[in-house]
Amino acid sequence: MALREIVFLPDPVLRRKAHKVTAFDSDLQVLIDDMIETMREAPGVGLAAPQVGVLQRVIVVEYAEDEEDEDGPKKLYVLVNPEIVQVSKETELGIEGCLSVPGLVGEVDRHTGLTVKGLNRRGQPVKYKVNGWLARIFQHEIDHLDGIVYTDRATRVWKPREGEEAPVD
Ligand code: NI
Repeated sequence: MALREIVFLPDPVLRRKAHKVTAFDSDLQVLIDDMIETMREAPGVGLAAPQVGVLQRVIVVEYAEDEEDEDGPKKLYVLVNPEIVQVSKETELGIEGCLSVPGLVGEVDRHTGLTVKGLNRRGQPVKYKVNGWLARIFQHEIDHLDGIVYTDRATRVWKPREGEEAPVD
């Protein structure tokens, strides 16, 4: 495993649509392992392949298994070719940051729940139903695969005060 360099706005790679993964080969396995390591090192709660300069539809997410216990055990998700297949009608505002947009946070309206399907790292179908922060993280990461950055959707963006934190992905 190796750390990859995170790319920042205005790098054009963050504005392009990533390609569907078709080969579940060793290059993909290395990319996924590197993305997990890079996300953990940052640290962040999620990372999309375009953020390390790779235009492939791959995301990794790692967040508390129990949303009520943010410091409790974490669950790692690896999703290839993810697709949001269902969203809640309900939306809520929350504060987001992004490893590719350092030094800023923003308030973004997101669906409070969703169902996402895709493939795992071996190419087998997986499906997750997620709520709350996890749903927010998935929407943020999948946006990256379509060249969308949270600041595009934010109702406002600002420089956080000291001690003001938001999960970054
Ligand atoms: Ni991001």
